[in-house]
Amino acid sequence: MIKYEGRNYSLDQNETVLDCLLRHGIAPPYSCKSGLCHTCLMRATQGTPTSDSQKGLKQSQISQNYFLGCACVPNEFMDITLPNSEAFRSITTVLNIAQLNDSVLRLRLKKPDNFNYFAGQYVTIYNNNGIGRSYSLASVPGTDDFLEFHIQVIPNGTVSNWIKQAVSVDDSITIGEAIGSGIYTNDNLKQSIALIGTGTGLAPLYGILRTALLKQHKGDIRLYHGSRSSANLYLQDALQQLANEHSAFTYIPCISGAEPLPEALTAGRANDVALKDIVNFKKWRVYLCGNADMVKASKRSIFLAGASMQDISADPFAHA
Ligand SMILES: Cc1cc2nc3c(=O)[nH]c(=O)nc-3n(C[C@H](O)[C@H](O)[C@H](O)COP(=O)(O)OP(=O)(O)OC[C@H]3O[C@@H](n4cnc5c(N)ncnc54)[C@H](O)[C@@H]3O)c2cc1C
Ligand code: FES
Repeated sequence: MIKYEGRNYSLDQNETVLDCLLRHGIAPPYSCKSGLCHTCLMRATQGTPTSDSQKGLKQSQISQNYFLGCACVPNEFMDITLPNSEAFRSITTVLNIAQLNDSVLRLRLKKPDNFNYFAGQYVTIYNNNGIGRSYSLASVPGTDDFLEFHIQVIPNGTVSNWIKQAVSVDDSITIGEAIGSGIYTNDNLKQSIALIGTGTGLAPLYGILRTALLKQHKGDIRLYHGSRSSANLYLQDALQQLANEHSAFTYIPCISGAEPLPEALTAGRANDVALKDIVNFKKWRVYLCGNADMVKASKRSIFLAGASMQDISADPFAHA
């Protein structure tokens, strides 16, 4: 049993708090339903949230009984409230919107004061109805004085289409805090790094790559960026330029669809090309981002190819 806004609701067996509320016609904010985006953050004013539902939250949130509604199958009575809508959010300004290819936008926002992040993390961007979706940061803190996002515009997508149709330079926009543990750590500068992403999965990898180069990473860095067609690749010139300037970095754009390819492009899916190329991932650090099925399948195959689980960071762009 849970209590929400003064009313009791019974949960079905193994039902999450979020699913129970949705089944009763209540629509708290949510997006990925996978414990990733933190849009469904809730707080228990009575009862203790399960530890699974607090994975990835900050210690200060855990100690105040915050939890993720989509990941919480309660094992005791809980009285639940939503966080104050201003908590953990900042209002900022749109600096620039540009087209990176036919369907991907580059959105640059002013970095709010006291907004801290690591390259590779993601934030929730809220539309003017308060509906939020996660978008990965492509910018590098301390180097870029803006926050950069790469947004794949989904036909009829609530938030991505809103950004395309309704957002203009100088508009105010609400964002959440930066979250996610797929970040570059320079504790082993000699470790080889594989960055594998599809579509806008390039966004966090672009931030991680540039951070590693700035920290003068010494090991091999290979970026496999996958796309169905060559027209859907983006940032090719900037990435090739970085590869020309840094001998340790190799850029491998991969095309999975059937089309005649120039020599600079590799045929195949990015994850397959990486597995064929590297073969043994023992001691490699691996970052996987983008299509959720690709990320899930690759995490397993790269582990089976020798990488240790703690060296694999996976950010599936999951959607409910
Ligand atoms: C951790 C994380 C990081 C993310 N980072 C990025 C990022 O950097 N850039 C980015 O563009 N997106 C990113 N996403 C995805 C993003 O959060 C949204 O899911 C996406 O923009 C769609 O939201 P929407 O509101 O436009 O569409 P919705 O209104 O949510 O969906 C509209 C319809 O499209 C379907 N749909 C949604 N997404 C897709 C898709 N990718 N392919 C096919 N159908 C789809 C839905 O099932 C639904 O039927 C990330 C997601 C997560 C969880
Ligand atoms: S974390 Fe619960 S909906 Fe994304």
